[in-house]
Amino acid sequence: MNQLDFFKKLNRLTALELSLSIAAFLVLTLCLLCSLFYFDNGVGDGGGGVRSRAGVTWWFGGNLSGNAELGFSEEGDCDYFDGKWVWDETYPLYDSKDCLFIDGGFRCSENGRPDNSYTKWRWQPNKCNMPRFDAKAMLEKLRNKRLAFVGDSIGRNQWESLLCMLSSAVSNKSSIYEVHGNPITKHMGSLVFMFRDYNCTIEYYRAPFLVVQGRPPGGSPPNVKYTLKVDKLDWSSGKWKDVDVLILNAGHWWTNDKTIKSGCYFEEGNAVKMNMTVETAFRRSIETVASWIDSQVDTNKTSIFFRSYAPVHFSGGDWKTGGTCHLETMPDLTAPYLPHTWGHFNTVNDALADHANKSHVSKVNLLNVTYLTLQRREAHSSLYYLGPKPAPIHRQDCSHWCLPGVPDTWNELLYAVFLKKQQQLLRSKNSTLVAEAPSN
Ligand SMILES: *[C@@H]1O[C@H](CO)[C@@H](O)[C@H](O)[C@H]1NC(C)=O
Ligand SMILES: *[C@@H]1O[C@H](CO)[C@@H](O)[C@H](O)[C@H]1NC(C)=O
Ligand SMILES: *[C@@H]1O[C@H](CO)[C@@H](O)[C@H](O)[C@H]1NC(C)=O
Ligand SMILES: *[C@@H]1O[C@H](CO)[C@@H](O)[C@H](O)[C@H]1NC(C)=O
Ligand SMILES: *[C@@H]1O[C@H](CO)[C@@H](O)[C@H](O)[C@H]1NC(C)=O
Ligand SMILES: *[C@@H]1O[C@H](CO)[C@@H](O)[C@H](O)[C@H]1NC(C)=O
Ligand SMILES: *[C@@H]1O[C@H](CO)[C@@H](O)[C@H](O)[C@H]1NC(C)=O
Ligand SMILES: *[C@@H]1O[C@H](CO)[C@@H](O)[C@H](O)[C@H]1NC(C)=O
Repeated sequence: MNQLDFFKKLNRLTALELSLSIAAFLVLTLCLLCSLFYFDNGVGDGGGGVRSRAGVTWWFGGNLSGNAELGFSEEGDCDYFDGKWVWDETYPLYDSKDCLFIDGGFRCSENGRPDNSYTKWRWQPNKCNMPRFDAKAMLEKLRNKRLAFVGDSIGRNQWESLLCMLSSAVSNKSSIYEVHGNPITKHMGSLVFMFRDYNCTIEYYRAPFLVVQGRPPGGSPPNVKYTLKVDKLDWSSGKWKDVDVLILNAGHWWTNDKTIKSGCYFEEGNAVKMNMTVETAFRRSIETVASWIDSQVDTNKTSIFFRSYAPVHFSGGDWKTGGTCHLETMPDLTAPYLPHTWGHFNTVNDALADHANKSHVSKVNLLNVTYLTLQRREAHSSLYYLGPKPAPIHRQDCSHWCLPGVPDTWNELLYAVFLKKQQQLLRSKNSTLVAEAPSN
C-alpha cells in the first residue's frame, strides 16, 4: 500500500471508522516498535515482521470492507443504487488471467495497463450493505435456467463479466462451453455458454437498438440506406422471450452519428419518418420493448432487468476525433449530473414509468447504474484494448470497460436485486399459501 492509496482510503472513512483506524494505527505502531525491538536484540528472527504484516492485513483488509452498522439487506426498501465507491483491498472478484471468457479488448492488465487501482473500488449503498457476490449460490439459483443479456457491446462487456464471476466457482473449466462450439472472440449475433453441472446457460444476443434494423420500404428517398423499425422488436426476440432472467440495455447506438448521419432513418407503421429525431425514435423503441413485455413475456417466469445507460468518458473529443481517458487514475466521486448522460437514462426511465400502470411492465427492474458509472472515468479500456502494445493515443476506447472492473459491480447489483426479488416472491407465495389454507 503506497501513500496515495492510504489517502484515498482516509478520504472514505467516517468518524467512527477513523477512530477505529487511529486505534489500529497505534496497535500497528506498537507491533512495529516491538518487532524493531526484537530485531535490535537479535531474537526476532523475522517473527515481528510477520506480526506487523499481519497487523497491516488486519487493518486494511479487514472490516473496513463493509459497513458493520448496516445489515445485509435482501429485504426492505434499501436503494442499492444510492451509495458511494469505497476502496476495498479484497477486490477484484477474479483475475482476468484465470477467466477464459473475456474478449481481448477487455483484458486491460494483460494488454499492458500498468495500474490496477481501478479494480479496487467497491460500491457501498448508503443505507444497507449489498450481499457479497456468491457465485455458487447464484449458479444454484440458476440451475436448469437460462439467463440472457440483450443489447449492445456494453451489454456484452457485462455478460463476459458475469461469465467470469460465475466461472470462478467452477473448478472444471471445460465443463463450461459454448453450445455451438464458437469461441468467445467470435463476434456473432449470439453466444450461449452452458454451465454443465448446473444445466444453466448464460447467453448473449447482439441487438444494439433492441428494435429491428433493416432495408427501407420501396420508394424511400435515396439517402435512406437502412431503417430502424421502432415499432418492431429485434428478430432475435423469439429466442430470448422465454428465458428466466433477461437483462436488456441500449443507448450507445442511439446517436445521430450511428443513425441518421449514416443513412439510417426511422420507420413506423411501414412508413419512413424523415423528421423523427433520434430522441423520439429511442423513446418509441423503449415503448415497443414495454408493450412487447406486456403482450409476449410471461413475467411470472421471466425476471426482467433494464440496465441503464453507461456513460462514456471521452475528453477533448469523441471516439473518432481523438478523445482520451487514459490519464485518469481516480474515480470522480463528485461527478456532475450532465444532461448528455441523462438524456438516455431519462428516456428509458420515463418510457418504462409511463407504462408502469400496466402490470407487467411495472415488473421491469431498472438497474440504475448511470450515476455510479459516471463516476468511474478511470476504468475504461482506454489504450489497453489491442493486445500487447498500447493503442495510438488518438484511438482510445473510453466506452468499454476493463475486466475485472465496473461491469462486475453492475452484476453485483443484478445479484442483489435478483436475491431481493426472489425473497419477495417467496414471501408472497407464502402469504398466498397461508391465505389459501383451509381455516379448520
Ligand atoms: C469482520 O466483520 C465480520 C462480521 O461483522 C466478522 O465476522 C469478522 O470476524 C470481522 N473480521 C475482522 C478481521 O475483524
Ligand atoms: C438513480 O440513481 C441516482 C443516484 O442514486 C438517483 O439520483 C436517481 O433518482 C435514481 N433514479 C431512479 C429512477 O431510480
Ligand atoms: C435443463 O434446463 C432446461 C431449461 O433451461 C430444461 O428445459 C431441461 O429440462 C433441463 N434438463 C435437465 C436434465 O434438467
Ligand atoms: C471436465 O469436464 C469435461 C467436459 O464436460 C469432462 O470431459 C471431464 O471429464 C471433466 N473433468 C473432470 C476432472 O471432472
Ligand atoms: C417534416 O418536415 C417537412 C419539411 O421540413 C415538413 O414539411 C413536414 O411538415 C414535417 N412533418 C412533420 C410530421 O413534422
Ligand atoms: C401469474 O401469476 C399470477 C398469480 O399467481 C396469476 O394470477 C397470473 O394469471 C399469472 N400470469 C400468467 C401469465 O401466467
Ligand atoms: C396511469 O395512472 C395514472 C394515474 O393513476 C392515470 O392517469 C393514467 O391514465 C394511467 N395510465 C395508463 C396507461 O393506464
Ligand atoms: C415460508 O413459510 C414457512 C413455513 O411457514 C417458513 O418456514 C419460511 O421461513 C417462510 N419463508 C419466507 C421466505 O418467508
